[in-house]
Amino acid sequence: MKVKNICCIGAGYVGGPTMAVIAQKNPDIKVTVVDINASRIAAWNHDDLEQLPIYEPGLDKVVAEARNRNLFFSTDVDAAIEAADMVFISVNTPTKTYGKGKGMAADLKYIELCARQIARVAKSDKIIVEKSTLPVRTAQAIKSILHNTGNGVKFQILSNPEFLAEGTAVADLMAPDRVLIGGEQTEDGFKAIQALVNIYATWVPQENILTTNLWSSELSKLTANAFLAQRVSSINALSELCEVTGADVNEVANAIGKDSRIGPKFLKASVGFGGSCFQKDILNLVYIAKSYGLDAVADYWEQVIIMNDHQKHRFASKIIQTLYNTISGKKIAFLGWAFKKDTNDTRESAAIYVADQLLEEQASIVVFDPKVTKQKMQSDLNYLNTRSEEDNAQYLTTVPEPYEACKDAHAIAILTEWDEFKTYDWQRIYDQMQKPAFVFDGRGILDQSQLKTIGFQVYVIGK
Ligand code: NAD
Ligand code: UGA
Repeated sequence: MKVKNICCIGAGYVGGPTMAVIAQKNPDIKVTVVDINASRIAAWNHDDLEQLPIYEPGLDKVVAEARNRNLFFSTDVDAAIEAADMVFISVNTPTKTYGKGKGMAADLKYIELCARQIARVAKSDKIIVEKSTLPVRTAQAIKSILHNTGNGVKFQILSNPEFLAEGTAVADLMAPDRVLIGGEQTEDGFKAIQALVNIYATWVPQENILTTNLWSSELSKLTANAFLAQRVSSINALSELCEVTGADVNEVANAIGKDSRIGPKFLKASVGFGGSCFQKDILNLVYIAKSYGLDAVADYWEQVIIMNDHQKHRFASKIIQTLYNTISGKKIAFLGWAFKKDTNDTRESAAIYVADQLLEEQASIVVFDPKVTKQKMQSDLNYLNTRSEEDNAQYLTTVPEPYEACKDAHAIAILTEWDEFKTYDWQRIYDQMQKPAFVFDGRGILDQSQLKTIGFQVYVIGK
């Protein structure tokens, strides 16, 4: 079967870039990305490519090439579903904030709404592709909704999890380590799998396109994120031990990373991992394991989150303790708010939790981030509900320029590893700060000896 018309429900960090690349590589397929969020769709359609709702290096060029050729962004969800042969579901699957599984299970209400909408609207057979990250066996639930419409329309369900990382989304999509497609192991299932394989095969080598059964594909996504997050928590656990023993976490990471069985990637000690998915997906894995009565499995993976929370808390405590156990009224400059460099995404960013802990001690925080807006920072803090919105706005302010953020500060904390932080005039920054001038490098990106020569008191994670 040759797919001619694709609809993607959800124009977020995954739906937008993924569909832009699919459209760019398949000019003969019409791709329509739909969302109920009208302002997000308007931003995707904005003439000024700087106004796209997501900042990703290289994304503007891909969108510029494909948009209004075979890539369209719309709020007319019904029309796009009806016209499509293949419907990707790429909506958010956050951690549940209510009811059974609160704080752990994935909230699948948006997925179910999509399934019901497809069931209501579809008049012709369709392949439904799970692009969102989902608990293993979700395809079963989608199937039972779609197969009970009584209108004779046939559906095949595929799982095609996305492995892109933010900040490198376009590069990851252009050259993925692998594309994973799970489907029913029946004749119709294999045909559906092949239809999706053909779309990716226009630019991904066949040997990098893996096909499995549905449940392996669904579970592989949660497993991949759990393994990645576990590496960060592992090196972060060791960073604390390095600090008390005189070992240097970078040297340890380098030494173990040379072992080809371990490998060098994802061993950078940090203030803690953030992002929309690691925590959510591990909590989901823990919940699934518990729901099958596998308590030892659940406890094992939960430890990755416990370690990550500890690391964020430990960094904030280090600042407080170093500043003579009192930061009330002291100005602390934050460089970075995004959960990693090269993105404007702040979901679960370590900066939010470090700021919250420092604000509890009545610090005055001034933030500079190259891509994150003041509104976003305030809403991140307000979401925690620790204090009033007025207090958050009064004690955490945002400036558009790094030197202003650091002027008269008692301490600077590096929360995101933006490259530009390394190139600042650190002598100028030092001259304008309160003395002693402290730097807390939560990302290990600055030249520690250069800073010390200037006169800074420097703390680096894991050293
Ligand atoms: P997002 O919040 O950026 O985007 C989801 C979009 O879906 C929102 O714009 C929302 O308005 C829209 N939506 C929700 N319900 C809808 C409905 N019924 N009809 C139309 N639109 C609807 O989320 P995201 O970061 O793109 O993540 C989507 C999924 O992909 C999640 O399951 C996530 O775990 C997974 N994922 C994310 C990443 C990442 O880097 N962000 C990477 C891999 C996988
Ligand atoms: C992660 C995965 O890398 C993607 O494969 C996956 O598709 C995605 O989650 C998802 O499912 O959402 P992402 O969260 O965008 O991607 O970014 P990462 O590069 O994985 O970084 C996650 C967090 O870990 C960041 O806060 C980063 O700073 C931190 N990190 C990463 C470290 O502290 N040390 C490292 O060595 C690597």
